[in-house]
Amino acid sequence: MTISVDCAFGGRRILVTGGAGFVGSRLVARLAEAGARVTVLDDLFTGKAEAVPAGVELVVGSVTDEPLVRDLVGRATLVFHLAARNIIASTANPRDDYATNIGGTLNVLLAAREARVERVVYTSSASIYGNPRSIPINEEDALEPLSPYAVSKLAGEHYCFAFYESYGTPVSAVRYSNIYGPGQRPDNPYCGVVSKFFAGAMAGEVLGIHGDGQQTRDFTYIDDAVEATILAAIHPRAEGEVFNVGTGIETSVNDLAATIAEVLEREVITEPVDRRDVDNIRRRVVNIEKARRMLRWSPQMTIQRGLAETARWLLSAEGADAAGRRPSRGSPSPGAGPDSTAASLPQGGRL
Ligand SMILES: NC(=O)c1ccc[n+]([C@@H]2O[C@H](COP(=O)([O-])OP(=O)(O)OC[C@H]3O[C@@H](n4cnc5c(N)ncnc54)[C@H](O)[C@@H]3O)[C@@H](O)[C@H]2O)c1
Repeated sequence: MTISVDCAFGGRRILVTGGAGFVGSRLVARLAEAGARVTVLDDLFTGKAEAVPAGVELVVGSVTDEPLVRDLVGRATLVFHLAARNIIASTANPRDDYATNIGGTLNVLLAAREARVERVVYTSSASIYGNPRSIPINEEDALEPLSPYAVSKLAGEHYCFAFYESYGTPVSAVRYSNIYGPGQRPDNPYCGVVSKFFAGAMAGEVLGIHGDGQQTRDFTYIDDAVEATILAAIHPRAEGEVFNVGTGIETSVNDLAATIAEVLEREVITEPVDRRDVDNIRRRVVNIEKARRMLRWSPQMTIQRGLAETARWLLSAEGADAAGRRPSRGSPSPGAGPDSTAASLPQGGRL
């Protein structure tokens, strides 16, 4: 079944919580392009007002504010719920994480039930699988949340399906796996390992790798993740379902650093640093057959091309600003060489 995104979203009122963030802002741009009337609710904890495209309404506020959520959800027919505290903030402050990731999700669901919205799409995380017993990880495999963040993302998901079963609230959930790509700002202290490695490599720094670097992840390109999220919102068969969103390909942190070196056409030196408590998952790669089969979705980007696109963006004026650098003059191609004026950034991002 082929579904036209323009037909599905044109003229519709859509609420995107967390729409000023990395994934949310790319999703919002896509929805706005398709002719949707989008409202973003974001407290700008990590999000940036300037990431919200012109013409899109930005409400600066929190998903923990129940009356505000009720009002905004009440004006929408479709809700993408992305607002969340990230893994590092959540490890540092589990109570705040609880309030946003669990309490905020409950507010969205209560409002969606009252307003009878057509679909709520919840963005969950592959972190809920913990250390898997076998790979690739299937949606129905054992769940073992090993961090406060994984607990809260899983609780949000459980609430979604409890509302689906108890009240018929139409929900679907996507479990993202390590999203990277243009728009992921290295100046965000919580950004992922891809951005941190790029920023360090472009600044000519030694990249700190936690542990032996053999830990693996399934790195997903931003546009592939956005496409899966959109399909989860419009596909009739997605209602009441959860989908892994990844590539099905396992990449070690060492290989990631090597591919970044290739893409930048420069030598990148790595050194082992202490393992951190948020990096307690050894291997992760997800099985994406369910999304392929039910959503007719498949990731389009290889890691090499995805990293090249990321490098291109980081070397652009916008990316240079996001990395806290002055834009480099000349060609914005990844092979153009590093900007030696790049600011020093902390090494070894979160996985
Ligand atoms: N990026 C990934 O690799 C990844 C992996 C798994 C799951 N996810 C999930 O995808 C979603 C988007 O993640 P992202 O990478 O874009 O992160 P992000 O931090 O860039 O975006 C999250 C947004 O939510 C906003 N926010 C945080 N607390 C809020 C609150 N109380 N009220 C309103 N807004 C609030 C932030 O300001 C930010 O704009 C999140 O739900 C996250 O848990 C992301």
